[in-house]
Formats: sequence, C-alpha cells, structure tokens
Amino acid sequence: MTLSGFVAVEPAGWDALFAPSSLLSVITTLDTEGRVNAAPIGTCTRVCHAPVCVAFTVGANKDTYHNVLSTGEFVVNVPSLERALLEKVSMMGVEYAPEVNEVSQVGLTTLAASRVAPPIIAEFGRHFECEVLWTKEWMHRLMVVGRVVAAAVRPDLIGPDGRIVWDRARPAHYCGVAYGNRYVAAYEQIVIESPFPQRPPFGSKSG
Ligand SMILES: Cc1cc2nc3c(=O)[nH]c(=O)nc-3n(C[C@H](O)[C@H](O)[C@H](O)COP(=O)(O)O)c2cc1C
Repeated sequence: MTLSGFVAVEPAGWDALFAPSSLLSVITTLDTEGRVNAAPIGTCTRVCHAPVCVAFTVGANKDTYHNVLSTGEFVVNVPSLERALLEKVSMMGVEYAPEVNEVSQVGLTTLAASRVAPPIIAEFGRHFECEVLWTKEWMHRLMVVGRVVAAAVRPDLIGPDGRIVWDRARPAHYCGVAYGNRYVAAYEQIVIESPFPQRPPFGSKSG
C-alpha cells in the first residue's frame, strides 16, 4: 500500500534517504604496535548524557575495527565545516596500508591526549577521549560504544555557560556515498520556546 501524499521509496533508495547520517568525526586509534590510525566516520552519535557515551559503526575489515577491539580506546575528533579541513578529512578516508598515519599523511598534526593513548588531531576544535564500553559485531560491521573519559575544546568554540558557539564550531554532517563528497552544516539554529525548564549543560560549573 502506498501512503497517500508521499512517494514510496524502494529499498535501494533507503540509505540515501537517511541522510545526513550523524556528527562528522575522525576517529583516532593506535594499533598494538603503537602506530597512529585515523578514519573519518560519519556515523558518530552521542548516545547517553550521563555518563557521556558516544557510538559509531565501522566496517569489519578496517584498521579502526582491529584497533578498537585490541586496544579498547579511541578519540573522537570533531572538525568544522571548512573546505580546507574537509578536503583533508576526505583524503583520510582513502584506504591506506595499516601502518600509514593518515593524520600526518594529509598534513595535519597529532598531539598527545590527556587520558588515553591515541592522540588528538590538533587542527580540529573538539576532542572526546573514550574507553570502549561495549562492541557488537553484526553483519559486516562493528558497533562501538565508548565512554568519554576526557574532553577538550578550542577556547573560542565554547561560551562561558559551557555551551558551544555554533557559528564558530560549525559542526558538519556527512551525507554518504550517494551524495559524493558532500558535507552539510549541522549548526543552523531555530530557537523555540521550550516546554521544559532551562538547565545548564551536564557538568558545567553552573550545573
Ligand atoms: C566523510 C566520511 C565518512 C565515513 N564514515 C564512515 C563510517 O561511519 N563508518 C565506516 O566504516 N567507514 C566510514 N567511512 C570510510 C572510512 O573512513 C574508510 O573506509 C577508511 O579508509 C577506514 O580507515 P581505517 O581502515 O584506517 O579504519 C567514511 C569516509 C568518509 C570520507
């Protein structure tokens, strides 16, 4: 039965219809020999407020898959919607050999993280250091849920109330292969009157 007033979409079109996917991030990990790996991930999502946990899915053949399972740590690095950065994000998605450090390969810089062994990407504005809470393999993918154990932000991207300055942070979504190399803004705002009491962000000084 076709829904009146809507266009029925065949299964082949479902992936493209569910776009954009989530917050664009680059996941940094280490392999068992301590070598840095980085992979752009379009599927990263915060899945719990307290404790803050993030999830993503990664293909079962990828370096990130092996590194997450063998080391139990990763960093979520969040880039801004800036052409020069996105060109580098896109280049990091090329399937390099496992020993290649994709961050330096595309001309970006790593810095030591504060609580976990994988490094952060210095040119990105927000970083979430994570310990793996659980993983689930299904079909040809691995679902990863990590607990954030430390986070840092470039000072100009956050206000005194602990909230993001959206027009500077300029988070992005990835639209998926159906749209080629297309990224869209995740920061346009509409503020509506909230039916809930306003409260400060979890963990902020005023919270
Ligand atoms: C913007 C962008 C988003 C991507 N999102 C994902 C994703 O969510 N999951 C995934 O498995 N691969 C994703 N990919 C593909 C991986 O980044 C790519 O296969 C990469 O080579 C994997 O790196 P690794 O083998 O070092 O882990 C994405 C690629 C790009 C460019």
